[in-house]
Amino acid sequence: MDLTSTRHEPFRQARPWAAELGLDPDDLPDGLVVADSTGRVICFNAAAARICGTDPSDVLGRPIQSALPFQDLDGHRWWQLTDPYGGLATRSGQPERGLLLEGREVLVSARYVRTRPTGPVHRLVVALRGTEARRRSERSDAELIATVAHELRSPLTSVKGFTATLLAKWERFTDDQKRLMLETVDADANRVTRLIAELLDISRIDSGRLEVRRQPVDMAAAVRRHVQAHTTAGQPPDRFATRIVEPLPELWADPDKIDQVLGNLLENAVRHGEGTVTIEVAPAPHRGHDEGTAVTVSDEGPGIPEESMSRVFTRFWRGSKRGGTGLGLYIVKGIVEAHGGDITVARAPGGGAQFRFTLPAGAPAFMA
Ligand SMILES: Nc1ncnc2c1ncn2[C@@H]1O[C@H](COP(=O)(O)OP(=O)(O)OP(=O)(O)O)[C@@H](O)[C@H]1O
Ligand SMILES: [Mg+2]
Repeated sequence: MDLTSTRHEPFRQARPWAAELGLDPDDLPDGLVVADSTGRVICFNAAAARICGTDPSDVLGRPIQSALPFQDLDGHRWWQLTDPYGGLATRSGQPERGLLLEGREVLVSARYVRTRPTGPVHRLVVALRGTEARRRSERSDAELIATVAHELRSPLTSVKGFTATLLAKWERFTDDQKRLMLETVDADANRVTRLIAELLDISRIDSGRLEVRRQPVDMAAAVRRHVQAHTTAGQPPDRFATRIVEPLPELWADPDKIDQVLGNLLENAVRHGEGTVTIEVAPAPHRGHDEGTAVTVSDEGPGIPEESMSRVFTRFWRGSKRGGTGLGLYIVKGIVEAHGGDITVARAPGGGAQFRFTLPAGAPAFMA
């Protein structure tokens, strides 16, 4: 907006610093509507115009009731209910609430500015906010609940099915059949437990409550331990290649959380990738200055399609049918970032996926 315009002059006159700062009502992210002592609109900023779908030049100078014909959710005319100019002289405003403006919901709060306490209203200042942001977050909460319910239901349906069958027809099954069913029940119960643990991690990450208990961590040893666990569980030893670039700087991190990160990345490389899984641990500058440690996990599988790379770290994203719940990488990113580190995904030289995370040295002096 043109700063020399006189449209919002009263706003500036009322606040000389606003002019000094070059502050323009149009710079405000929220809608701002100001009426003078007679109830006529003297300011209608750009955000208000966007939220109300009104051209400011159509409403400036008009009575506020006609410029903003709000109705409450029961269809009552709001200005009549609140009566800022004629109502109780002790009122200082209205708290934020949802009102309808030509069928659209708008969040509205108002402030009655009086020159002296209990004096007449000198200015009426109305703040407006659209409800899209709130809607969006409500929608994503609803989606999260739906996904979680769905993820919990399938293993529980299977548990319920097998236990009901066993209870009803115990005598008719052989020991081997019973064992098979119980193994499935056991695996499904593990799935539910794991999902709940993941959800708890997510809630900690999202609310910034993920605690990092730092102690010295030997990353090379941790990587070897994870590779060992996979080979013990039946993966051929030549599926893994480990490269440690010495000397590694000292690393202070939360060992359990680092285990979670390595566990997820290696499991992904084995489950979603193919061929040799290469893990490299090397010193790396972190964000250009601090000393840090970088761990790169690459495989030779199909990799992550270029167009999905920005989504791999989001909740519940999974690229293939072989996917689990799609929470692993979201948690990995949350843990790495809670350590002050970064994680990226790229195409590996061999064509597969390449995940690389860098952690700052995280000396105890940096402990928050
Ligand atoms: N190394 C990889 N190669 C190919 N695709 C991968 C690789 N790692 C992850 N992905 C893709 O990214 C998706 C998300 O991974 P993420 O670890 O978040 O979830 P998940 O493995 O499906 O389930 P979870 O880890 O929660 O059990 C996977 O479903 C898979 O499609
Ligand atoms: Mg995973």
